[in-house]
Amino acid sequence: MKSWPYPRVAAHRGGGTLAPENTLAGLRVGASFGHKLVEFDAKLSADNVAFLLHDDTVERTSNGRGAAARMRYAELAALDAGSWRDARFAGEPMPTLAQVAACCRELGLAANVEIKPCTGRDVETGRIVGAETARLWQAENEGQVGMPPLLSSFSYAALEAARESAPDLPRGLLFEHVPADWREQTAALDCVSLHASHRHLDEALVKRIKSAGLFILAYTVNDLDRARQLASWGVDTVCTDRIDLIGPYALDA
Ligand code: G3P
Ligand code: MG
Repeated sequence: MKSWPYPRVAAHRGGGTLAPENTLAGLRVGASFGHKLVEFDAKLSADNVAFLLHDDTVERTSNGRGAAARMRYAELAALDAGSWRDARFAGEPMPTLAQVAACCRELGLAANVEIKPCTGRDVETGRIVGAETARLWQAENEGQVGMPPLLSSFSYAALEAARESAPDLPRGLLFEHVPADWREQTAALDCVSLHASHRHLDEALVKRIKSAGLFILAYTVNDLDRARQLASWGVDTVCTDRIDLIGPYALDA
């Protein structure tokens, strides 16, 4: 990837903190603020359906209880993943990746698909989410070029498996703290980008990463001045919860 085709701002988990995370309603709220790029977290149900959820368990973001990896998608789909955020989102389900692909297509949203395996399921999650992303976005975006879904993960093993199953999709390795061996890890996975917590980035590190030919996505940036500072250092995209404060074009020159 010679140039970075993605918008400079990504709506974190769909609609940031203005909507229930990782739901279709969240994507719609993100799009309603004009955002063109959304990040969301994808994992597998017990019956290997790729769907959206951040945590290993469902209690924080739904009315259910327990480990997602032990629930079939039919059980997960019956849960209310909207009310915890606001009553007006009552009944909003955890969508399948297929539903998300269709919704992104409808809303004209580019996607950063974060592969978020449940503990111990790194390889199969990377393999299936990678393959599904390639298949679904190809079907959904027939004829559209330039902004393929960007796969990312904190899990090296998941991203390695996704590379096998979806070799043509761009990859970004996620870190909280950028480790000493970031060059080796991103090179081994043939990554186009490095994604890192903005809290642990400084100008010198951003410049070293950029000099290595990688693009940079910084998360989760909720202050406009900080977003501007990161962009001035060379960060390509910031991922934000404050989709209202950091608008889709806030960092454009
Ligand atoms: O992909 C950026 C960001 O979403 C990573 O952290 O925990 O919000 O998935 P998290
Ligand atoms: Mg995420």
